[in-house]
Amino acid sequence: MQGRSENALSHSSVNFDRIARPYRWLEYLSFGPWLARCRSAQLVHLTGARHALLLGDGDGRFLARLLAAHATLTADVVDSSYSMLRILDRRVRRSGRQARQRICLHHADALEWNPTRSYDLIVSHFFLDCFFPGQLEQLLDRLLPYALPGARWVISEFALPRSTPAAHLARGVVGLLYRAFGLLTGLRVRALPDYATALRRRGLVPIHDCHYLAGLLRSQVWSAPPPAGGDFGGKIRIEVEPG
Ligand SMILES: C[S@@+](CC[C@H](N)C(=O)[O-])C[C@H]1O[C@@H](n2cnc3c(N)ncnc32)[C@H](O)[C@@H]1O
Repeated sequence: MQGRSENALSHSSVNFDRIARPYRWLEYLSFGPWLARCRSAQLVHLTGARHALLLGDGDGRFLARLLAAHATLTADVVDSSYSMLRILDRRVRRSGRQARQRICLHHADALEWNPTRSYDLIVSHFFLDCFFPGQLEQLLDRLLPYALPGARWVISEFALPRSTPAAHLARGVVGLLYRAFGLLTGLRVRALPDYATALRRRGLVPIHDCHYLAGLLRSQVWSAPPPAGGDFGGKIRIEVEPG
């Protein structure tokens, strides 16, 4: 694993180490299978991806599925939690030595990490909501230069639905989650960032979009500007799942 030693990331007061082990069970207790469904929703749209960057993948459940679904894909994984990375590492090793050889782990703050290669796939599940708006801009400015033309960015996030009763409920759920994560990890962010506007401003467009739990969960694939002369390869597809 590359990076500084455990708990040595002094630039960030946020630390997910304490909840790394119970994370999966806390998730099932609070949202049942829905977050996992949301994470996996776009796997079918990722064929052809060769080099992926996973941001804050946590305990690696998505990464294990991604590696299994795309047999030649390699991945860099960046996470500021050493404990999360250790759990992820163990999970991928259980899938076999070949799978472990296809990934490189980086114990680092994504806001400060320097990529050394380019990617045709970036993945962030329930990660962008860990940032203040200014930090989100910083993250995109830092990483998007390493996105190849036409690269896809898969994003899962909580969202506030349009319909009023669902929006009230969602606001309550999101507020509670932020308070809980604030207590458990030191996270100070309290509002979902407008990543869509930030991505559009940099030329990305959404190409797949689906919702779960009446719009509380959102799964999207965004595409970076295509190579000169290319097109985005299709119109946006909206899928609404029951639940
Ligand atoms: C809410 S958890 C999401 C984990 C996983 N992606 C999922 O879908 O459940 C956020 C993850 O991002 C990591 N993280 C938070 N801020 C980070 C940062 N600035 N740099 C790198 N990783 C960060 C945390 O350690 C944690 O693993």
